[in-house]
Amino acid sequence: MKIGVLQFQPKFGKVEMNVNRAEEFLITKSWDLAVLPELFNTGYQFIDRKELEHQAELIPNGYTTERLIRIAQRQQGYIVAGIAEKATEGFYNSAVLIGPQGYLGHYRKVHLFYEEKLWFQPGDKGFRVYDIGMAKIGLMICFDWIFPEVARTLALQGADILCQPANLVLPYCPDAMITRAIENRVFTMTANRIGTEKRGDRNELHFIGQSQIVDPKGNLLFRLKADTEELKVIKIDPAAARDKWLTTHNHIFKDRRPEVYALE
Ligand code: ACM
Repeated sequence: MKIGVLQFQPKFGKVEMNVNRAEEFLITKSWDLAVLPELFNTGYQFIDRKELEHQAELIPNGYTTERLIRIAQRQQGYIVAGIAEKATEGFYNSAVLIGPQGYLGHYRKVHLFYEEKLWFQPGDKGFRVYDIGMAKIGLMICFDWIFPEVARTLALQGADILCQPANLVLPYCPDAMITRAIENRVFTMTANRIGTEKRGDRNELHFIGQSQIVDPKGNLLFRLKADTEELKVIKIDPAAARDKWLTTHNHIFKDRRPEVYALE
């Protein structure tokens, strides 16, 4: 299975330009699954609600989702991409899953980071795994990484690959996702953006790049640089994520002891 992450620099508010740019990368290679950054179509740093009213889109009947469907059809692959979603009750920081057959579902970011809390509603659809034939995939977004429950929930539901659109500004996630991969014996794909945004009187945000793919034993298959734009595609065998035996005596799921964990 050929899987890839797209790392690039979206321009704030230039939806058509950002989708065009992503398409230019996506049509240069063949892939079965491609993950794009969080909010890849709009950029990240919203500073008022009107901006979201103009730029957020319906899912699945919005401009970006429809463009992604055409790309997925043309490339005969699956896409996970972060977009700003407009719903009747407000806005969500969402990730769509699109296949050659069209829209398959979307995830709404559960753990909002920093000023996202001013604009977006926390996700209300929970965590779900999708069977895309070659693999089962789970969707999470960026800051969800710091809550190990997210990766665990998806892995317990059978995900082989965790797909993580991201707009990372803190330095920790790339290394933390190696741990998420080891503790769940899954592949992780992190597609981050690069560049900076400074809008209005808000703090400047610097996005750290370093998009990566990790295998179920925690091997870093690659990590991109902090400042380059690239679609990086590699071949993996998703079946490697279905062996949960760490030693002949240790199965990472069967050895769990929920009865002794005090989580609440
Ligand atoms: C983040 O969740 N965008 C850091």
